[in-house]
Amino acid sequence: MCGIFAITSNRRNDIGETLVECAEKLTYRGYDTVGVATVFKDQIHLRKDKGKFDEVAEKHRLREMRGSKGIAQLRWATFGAPSKLNAQPHLDCDEILCAAHNGNILNFLPLREQYTEEGHTVRSMNDGEICVHVVERYFNQSGDLVEAIRKGCRDLKGDYAFAVMHKDDDKIYAVKMGSSLFAGIGDGETCVSSDLPSILPVTREIVNVHDGEMIILSPQKLEILRLSDGATIERNPYTSDADIRVAQKGGYPHFMLKEIHEQVSATRTLFSAIREPYISQFVDTLIEAERVFFVACGSSYHATIVGSYYFNDLANIAAIPVIGGQFNSQYGESLSENDVVVCVSQSGETKDVMDAVHHSQKHNVKILSVVNVLGSTLTHLSDLYLPLGSGFEISVPATKTYTSQVTLFSFLATQAGHKKSILDKKTVDSMLKDLKTRLPPLIDETISTTTLKARALAPYLSNFSHFYVLGHGLTHGVALEGALKIKEVCYIVADGMYSSEFKHGPLSIVDEGYPIVFSIAPNDAEHIVNHLAEVECRGARIIATGEDHQLLRRYVNEEDFLVVPNSNKYVSPILQAIPLQLMAYHLATYKNIDPDYPRNISKTLTVR
Ligand code: BG6
Repeated sequence: MCGIFAITSNRRNDIGETLVECAEKLTYRGYDTVGVATVFKDQIHLRKDKGKFDEVAEKHRLREMRGSKGIAQLRWATFGAPSKLNAQPHLDCDEILCAAHNGNILNFLPLREQYTEEGHTVRSMNDGEICVHVVERYFNQSGDLVEAIRKGCRDLKGDYAFAVMHKDDDKIYAVKMGSSLFAGIGDGETCVSSDLPSILPVTREIVNVHDGEMIILSPQKLEILRLSDGATIERNPYTSDADIRVAQKGGYPHFMLKEIHEQVSATRTLFSAIREPYISQFVDTLIEAERVFFVACGSSYHATIVGSYYFNDLANIAAIPVIGGQFNSQYGESLSENDVVVCVSQSGETKDVMDAVHHSQKHNVKILSVVNVLGSTLTHLSDLYLPLGSGFEISVPATKTYTSQVTLFSFLATQAGHKKSILDKKTVDSMLKDLKTRLPPLIDETISTTTLKARALAPYLSNFSHFYVLGHGLTHGVALEGALKIKEVCYIVADGMYSSEFKHGPLSIVDEGYPIVFSIAPNDAEHIVNHLAEVECRGARIIATGEDHQLLRRYVNEEDFLVVPNSNKYVSPILQAIPLQLMAYHLATYKNIDPDYPRNISKTLTVR
């Protein structure tokens, strides 16, 4: 996934400064190449290169670029290696048009061949370059840029959003076709961007953009056209109350550590973000469903695994967690309109999840979703969604949104259990009190009581290029999530696994001093004691998270036991992800890895 930001203004002629300030907030979306183009003195000025944002901005003095309109792009490479040539924005053959995109043009290779045969100079192997040439091709025929863009989009296959500008007018044109795009109206300037935080330095007046729409930006106004028939769409802006400080580190060395600490407030704001009647509608739909599928990727998928245990235990509902990219081939042809697909996505833009949504809608399946980014594509596509209210999550490894997702599942399962008369009112009231009142301070206590041990483990764990994180029952998803954090930010192959499965093969890897991390649910110690014994007797060094327990202390040394405060069977799995997040964070910083922008990955992937 990439990030694009474009702005046209009649207030400034040093647009480079604004482009850099805003585009910088898109860093989590891609940091393989960076590029900025502005129009100044009737010419397009383009500076782009391979490298991280700050490096390229410094080296090419992007802040000093002049002009009153421009486009910036940050790239996470898919088609075309990270290089200066493949960096965006791209120019057309005569250098009078310039464009940049986010997403994927699936038919770019055949179009590239066709346009090259037609005499176009297609300079790079990046699919985004096709956007400027397809517009150029129709513009050369009609001289009408709006028509050229509308016709051009008919030729492009895939999910994307792009911005394009001509050197001879003060407008910028942008389209949304499956990838995220937001628009903003400021005082004497208008802009578009792949996400909302990057627009806030310019304005809080936000206009949602839907798939199949074109935005025409001029300094004074913003127009919306439907791509299919060119019809004008009236849509009022709304004032975003998002706190821009969320997009700053607030004194923490990294967004990841800041967002780990923000889990205390995020689990509070969750309960003001979700409202009736949507909660009841969501729960009723799950109860009435023939089959419930949880569809998600990465950390969100791991949250759905913990969620499925909650629904089984608290509401006797079988919720089937499925990886987004796997859903259509595993369940796609057996779907019926009595099934429900619950999509869980922090960004609301993950392509694999979108594919499952589009396929399910063809089978008249109801789409419910749990999303953090309001106004994202998934919120537009869902029949009903519940917002997490976690605020922007900048660091690539998800932390606070994962914890809010798990907390929400525990809450919804409790509601469902109550509606199905499985849980009595007393049990429900105490569960809700635990989640709404006790959980935030318990998270705070968990961070302060496990940080030192988590940090102290880094030198030892840094000696290993692989190890295991095991969970059982309600901590199965927690172990998978812990392992993912270590993979994401420490470049160590930590494999998450169900502890009973470990003896069926992987146990062979264990030798003297080999690290095995256990996440142990309350009341589970007796149940998994075999799993502890079978690795301990082969010399493994057991690291554990869990509530204090004498039996566990026979297998886990004090310095390796990251004890979480006592709570209950359902709250404890929420707490137990935190010491694993801290272990990953401190191991990454110990290895001098920037946990916010780990190599090769990106916060949200809008490509299949
Ligand atoms: C990956 C991120 O690209 O997408 C993960 O690196 C994330 O951190 C996963 O969990 C799923 O993202 P989302 O936005 O759909 O929850």
